[in-house]
Amino acid sequence: MRKVESAARIREIIAAARDAGQTIGFVPTMGALHRGHMALIERAKQQTDIVVASVFVNPTQFNNPKDLELYPRTPEKDAALLEAHGCDIAFFPSVAEMYPEGSKNPTVSLGSLATVMEGQFRPGHFDGVVQIVSRFFEIVQPDKAFFGLKDFQQVAVIKEMVRQLGFGVEIVPCPTLREPSGLAMSSRNMRLSDEQKQEALHIYRTLSRASEEAKSHSPAEVKASAIAYFNQSDMKLEYFSIVDPTTLQDLNGTWVEGATACIAAFCGEVRLIDNMQL
Ligand code: PAF
Repeated sequence: MRKVESAARIREIIAAARDAGQTIGFVPTMGALHRGHMALIERAKQQTDIVVASVFVNPTQFNNPKDLELYPRTPEKDAALLEAHGCDIAFFPSVAEMYPEGSKNPTVSLGSLATVMEGQFRPGHFDGVVQIVSRFFEIVQPDKAFFGLKDFQQVAVIKEMVRQLGFGVEIVPCPTLREPSGLAMSSRNMRLSDEQKQEALHIYRTLSRASEEAKSHSPAEVKASAIAYFNQSDMKLEYFSIVDPTTLQDLNGTWVEGATACIAAFCGEVRLIDNMQL
């Protein structure tokens, strides 16, 4: 595996790979890697010739400076994990490398895709995500990019960004990996105590229960019941929404194909998100 810090070097390597007729798979990450990320690397290896993974904690997508400061960082361990899973190129850029002076932000109108759920509670978050992912796509020029569906809204936003900016990248959404307990794998889980990991399971239980209730109740009934059930825990709920998977609008009245329940909550100081197709 080659560990690269400069965008110019990535461009050279990619140009050589393209000349050799190879396809490029890209897995963007913010590090603190876990099995969920490794599943993305494995998927990328199955579908493309060269796999590039980036490890970059992007400051522009954090609306809360404390959250940015406390975001787990384990770069040595990340590099070792990527190498062990057959990643070809690990890109560890600096902030200056990703945001050189004078670099322009893409113009993308995300509309309500970026203002509901995560967008409501983390204003500006998706502008930062679009800014960094578009910059990565320009540098890496992947054929396919692999994103975990735990960030369900992010996948919808990235697909819309690709459509509007005309990137020739196929977005490959990959299923959420869970601990045997059901807890969705997340870099943020590193900040949970064992006791909090038990408490956080209430998120998965709420989603599973909603999935069961969806068989015989309306979206509004399922939502009300899920919120009441969730609030029996000590966690602080930010939102529980049942949305159309394409528009991300709350379902009013009837069920649609692919309806998805999305939740965000604080377990102590740690903000967790999860979702489940109902
Ligand atoms: O999902 C993430 O880890 C981040 O939002 C991403 C896509 C790496 C952009 O910083």
